[in-house]
Amino acid sequence: MLTIEHASVIFNAKTVNEKVALRDFTCKIDDGDFVTVIGSNGAGKSTLMNAISGSLMLDEGKILLDGKDITRFKEHKRARFIGRLFQDPLKGTAPNMTIEENLGLAYSRGKKRTLNIGINKRDISLFREKLKALGLGLEDRMKTPVGLLSGGQRQALTLLMATIVTPKLLLLDEHTAALDPVTAKKVMQITDEIVKKDRITTLMITHNIEGALKYGNKTIVLSQGQMLMDLNGDERKNMTVEGLMKLYSKNAADSLSDKMVL
Ligand SMILES: Nc1ncnc2c1ncn2[C@@H]1O[C@H](COP(=O)(O)OP(=O)(O)OP(=O)(O)O)[C@@H](O)[C@H]1O
Ligand SMILES: [Mg+2]
Repeated sequence: MLTIEHASVIFNAKTVNEKVALRDFTCKIDDGDFVTVIGSNGAGKSTLMNAISGSLMLDEGKILLDGKDITRFKEHKRARFIGRLFQDPLKGTAPNMTIEENLGLAYSRGKKRTLNIGINKRDISLFREKLKALGLGLEDRMKTPVGLLSGGQRQALTLLMATIVTPKLLLLDEHTAALDPVTAKKVMQITDEIVKKDRITTLMITHNIEGALKYGNKTIVLSQGQMLMDLNGDERKNMTVEGLMKLYSKNAADSLSDKMVL
């Protein structure tokens, strides 16, 4: 279970540029939950993910994962059990290394053995099988440098790398936003399959409200660094895109700086 308690992040504190990006944010996410996160530009979604992954530290509050307080853990330590994808397909893979080598690196994460020991035949057949399941033909290009792949192929590979050793938590920050609509749909389907198959606890930021309601089992709406809505169960099942938009504009603090740009 992931528990975030009274989390706050303040940028440029005590200056004219002070910005409270996350304000007294509290949330509980159960094991196996697939949570979609929506909210306007600047609502604090990426800040929340950065705080969970450790790429920035909380100014106040706590983060507990499986009961362990990870609030002060460095990012590299959290990376052993937290997988992460960004909007930019160039992040997360090493372009000069082959598909096979990238997967080898990811596979060694959290394990004692390293790439130095090499990738054995069993690993190769596992990688081939996993790549085949993506349905992109990458299993026949395992010696290809990742830099030669398209954005969508690369994002699918990054997803595989982030999940080849099942993480305790998977963080997806608009990971299909830079892809063309057809590829975005494909990568989203692959994401859904992997997450469901391994019951990976997942947080996915998206600006696609339809997708936010379609995928996963819980939707949280952020506004000005705070939780505006937490949709679960039947309330979520019966929610429509229009209904959510209406609820949002009714509930959202009516600030000019936080217009509805979901
Ligand atoms: N490093 C930083 N320094 C100063 N302010 C920052 C920094 N990072 C984010 N902010 C501010 O914090 C607020 C929240 O930003 P954040 O990136 O979390 O928004 P977001 O919900 O991910 O938005 P988007 O949908 O545009 O990605 C914004 O007002 C942003 O300008
Ligand atoms: Mg963001």
